[in-house]
Amino acid sequence: MKITSIKGFADIFPGEVEAWQLVEAKARQVFSFYNFAEIRIPILEKTELFSRSIGETTDIVEKEMYTFPDREVSSSTILSKSGSTGLAQSKSGTMGQTVSRSAGYTHSIPGPLMLTLRPEGTAGVVRAYIESEMYKVEPVRKLYYMGPMFRRERPQKGRMRQFHQIGAEALGRGDPFIDTEILLLLNDFLAALGLTEPSLQINSLGCGACRPEYRETLLQFLRLRQGELCGNCQRRIERNPLRALDCKEAGCIHATQDAPSIVDSLCHGCRDHFNTVQRLLHETQVKFALNPRMVRGLDYYCRTTFEWTTALLGSQSAVAAGGRYDGLVQQLGGPPIPGVGFALGVERLTMLLRLQENLPARGPGLYIVWIGDKARDWAFSTLHRLRRAGLQVEMEAEARSMKSQMRRADKLKAVSVLIVGENELTRGSAALRDMASKQQQDIDLNNIEAELVARKVN
Ligand code: HAM
Repeated sequence: MKITSIKGFADIFPGEVEAWQLVEAKARQVFSFYNFAEIRIPILEKTELFSRSIGETTDIVEKEMYTFPDREVSSSTILSKSGSTGLAQSKSGTMGQTVSRSAGYTHSIPGPLMLTLRPEGTAGVVRAYIESEMYKVEPVRKLYYMGPMFRRERPQKGRMRQFHQIGAEALGRGDPFIDTEILLLLNDFLAALGLTEPSLQINSLGCGACRPEYRETLLQFLRLRQGELCGNCQRRIERNPLRALDCKEAGCIHATQDAPSIVDSLCHGCRDHFNTVQRLLHETQVKFALNPRMVRGLDYYCRTTFEWTTALLGSQSAVAAGGRYDGLVQQLGGPPIPGVGFALGVERLTMLLRLQENLPARGPGLYIVWIGDKARDWAFSTLHRLRRAGLQVEMEAEARSMKSQMRRADKLKAVSVLIVGENELTRGSAALRDMASKQQQDIDLNNIEAELVARKVN
C-alpha cells in the first residue's frame, strides 16, 4: 500500500526549494546587517509554554495545537468513576489522571508531561532567553530563527498545518526606535527580494494602563450587539472582546463597524510611543496605513502591532506579522524585560516570489558536452577539479549524441556549455557557448579554471 504524506504537510521539491534557499540566504544577509544573531530552538516544547504566552482563549491554543502526552500511562492504575480509563486534560495542557477509589472519593495523581509541536517561535525564544539567563550578561539581544511551525488549521492555499517561519525578536528594549528598526528590517528584506507588493498596516494595542479601560468600553459596545456576533465571538466576548474586531465573519464585521477605536483610548505613554514609531516610519520613507481594528491572534501583544499583507494571495493575505510584547518575559518567569518582533511565512513569501516572477531560474554554471571516451575522461577529471574550485559544473556520464547532451544542458538551464572532443583536446582549446546569447568563444583548456573565472562562469 502506498503511504502518503499527512494532510497539510508538504514536501518541498527541487524546483521549488531554490526559492526557499534564496529567501533564507537573503534573510541571513539582511538580518546580519541589522546585527541579529541566529538562535535555534527546539520544535517540541512543554504545552504550558504556549498556553501561558499565546493565551488560553486564542484559536491557536483552543483548537490548533498538536499536543500529546510524553509517554503512555499505564491503564491499570487509572480508573474513572465508571471504572474505565480516564484522562482529563486541563486547559493549560497538563494531563491530570482522575482516580476514583470509591463513590464520592476522587483525587488526582500527576499525569504525564504534555508536549506541543511549536505553533510559533516567539514563546520558545523567550523561554530560551530566560532559561539561559542571557539577560544577566547583556539584556539587549537581537535574535532570529527559521524553521517549521505546526498549527492544525483547515489547509488551503497559503495555509498549511506544517508551515515555515523566519522570525526576529529584539529583547531588552522598550523604545520606539527598535519597533521601527524591526519594521525597517522587514522592509529591507522584502525589497532585497524584489518584492514591492506587501503593504504595511500598523496599530497600537496600548498597555496594562490603558487597555483595560478600552476593553471595558468595547465590551459594553459588544454586549449591546451580542446577537449579531458569530458563535465563537459570543462565547469569548467576556474573556477576549478584542478578538471580535479581527473576526472575518460577515456578522461580526457588520456589528463592529462603529466600534470604539483603541487608538483613541491610548494613555499618554502609549500615544507618544506610537506617534514616534509613525514619525520614524515617515522619516525613513516606509509606507504604512493605520488599522485600529488589527488585534492579532495571539494574546501577548501590547503597543505596536503590525501586519504586511498582500492582495495577491487570496484570503491568506498576511505575509509577515508581529508586534511588541513587553509583559511576556515576566509572564514566563523572567524579569520585566520588554520585547518586540515579527515572523514571516515562508510558504506565502515564496508563492509571492513565484507570482511576481522574481526567481532566478538557472541550473549549473557550466555543462561539459563531450564526444568520445578520451574526452569523457578529460571531462570527468576536469569536472571535479572545477567543482573543488567552487564552480557549479555538470556533465553526462553515458555516451549520448552531442545533440542530446545539448538538449539536456538546455533542460537543466545551464548557463554555459563547453564542447570537447578529441580534436579540441589535441588543439588544447574548445568552444564555450553562452546558452542565453548563443555566442561562442574559444577558451584555453590548459588554463581552464582561470579562463572560466575570468569569464565569470558560475
Ligand atoms: P502569526 O501572525 O501567527 O504571528 O504568524 C506569522 C506569519 O506566519 C503569518 O503572517 C503567516 O505568513 C505565517 N503563517 C501563520 N500560520 C500559517 C499557516 N497555517 N500556514 C502558512 N503560513 C502561516 C506569529 O507567529 C508571531 N510569533 C509573530 C511574532 C514574532 N510576534 C512577535 N514576534
